[in-house]
Amino acid sequence: MRALAVIGAQLGDEAKGKVVHFLAKDADLCVRFNGGPNAGHTVVDRFGTARLHQVPAGALHPRCLGVLAHGMVLDLWALRSELEELSSQGRPRPKLLISQRAHLILPAHKAREEEEGTAARIGTTRRGIGPAYADRARRLGIRLLDLGKQKVIWEKLPKLSGGARDIEALVGELRELWQEFQGMVGDDRACIAQALEEGKAVVFEGAQGTLLDLDLGTYPYVTSSATTVHGVGWGTGVRVDFSEVIGVAKAYVTRVGEGPFPTEESGDVGEALRRQGEEYGATTGRPRRCGWLDLVALRYAHEVNRFTSLALTKLDVLSGLPQVKVAVAYRTSGALRRDFPAAAEELFSATPVYETLPGWTEETRGLTSFADLPPAAQDYVRFVEESLGVPVALVGTGPGENDLIVRRPLDWES
Ligand code: IMP
Repeated sequence: MRALAVIGAQLGDEAKGKVVHFLAKDADLCVRFNGGPNAGHTVVDRFGTARLHQVPAGALHPRCLGVLAHGMVLDLWALRSELEELSSQGRPRPKLLISQRAHLILPAHKAREEEEGTAARIGTTRRGIGPAYADRARRLGIRLLDLGKQKVIWEKLPKLSGGARDIEALVGELRELWQEFQGMVGDDRACIAQALEEGKAVVFEGAQGTLLDLDLGTYPYVTSSATTVHGVGWGTGVRVDFSEVIGVAKAYVTRVGEGPFPTEESGDVGEALRRQGEEYGATTGRPRRCGWLDLVALRYAHEVNRFTSLALTKLDVLSGLPQVKVAVAYRTSGALRRDFPAAAEELFSATPVYETLPGWTEETRGLTSFADLPPAAQDYVRFVEESLGVPVALVGTGPGENDLIVRRPLDWES
């Protein structure tokens, strides 16, 4: 099989969009399998900055089909705006296949998120993600394939629409959306399975990160979908033998929203990382919480996903710091531990045990050769790969599509 998975190894915002866009250059398919418009995947190319929320990043390449698989929850209103924005940048219209089995996010889902208070408690992206997945599990959801059937819509909407919204108007809007999108709706599972069978190159694009996984993440401060490599089976129905599973990790850590963050730096270091890394949410504009790289968490992400290589992104942001710290263990209730706790309470009280490495002052933005990095930056990368036992194949040195060091070609053949 010729299949790559690109998975967030931390808490989302690891610059997966850029990595996927790079890897999907020669791909036939790029598949989003989880989440919805809570994702914000940024790609900077010759057309400008594309902020993608539901369109797979690989679909910016004209020959690559973007698949929105059934593991996603879809906001068609938002998808319409996203496509309009892309075409206003002069881009060719992406080729898309939208799963007939994917569930819709309705205005009521966003309203319910506010009413229930989850938006504030967890610091969600307020895109209706949680309520849409909840209705799917409650067997109330509306799927894409229902949209062409007026009778089904009229039966289901009153149970979902919640409150004052004019159902007739909503039915009208959904009818229009169906007319617009129905030509793209199809069988994602069959399409992906056939592509793999025919030896086509398929990239699976994870959204959010391993520690935001509904079950494996820092519950309850998580999203509502399967964000790890296991989400590929969950979200597509295809059993994939991956050629590579690439973990994307920032050279430091950020978190948006609430939840434990043992290596968080609230002072000058946090501020420097936020400023230099432009750490503001791509979906919500919120300032991101920033801190040092956490190898306890990253080791756990590797155990879960069994990465074949890592992409270490935004290394350029660390330039100018006198020292760089990396958490190698935690101390909880006086005891040293190297495993990642399942309980959020334990993570809240964990104090990191740091290894301190020398910093570097040289600018590294835009470098494309590992040998050109200052020796201390090279050592930092080596420290990460040796600690985890995973090669760092790609190093990100800036936002542009070419700001990337390729240390090892990624293997498409399993
Ligand atoms: P939800 O996915 O909107 O329900 O939000 C649940 C949690 O996941 C919140 O802490 C969000 O900030 C976080 N989250 C969701 N999507 C992303 C993302 O793409 N990047 C980073 N954090 C995210």
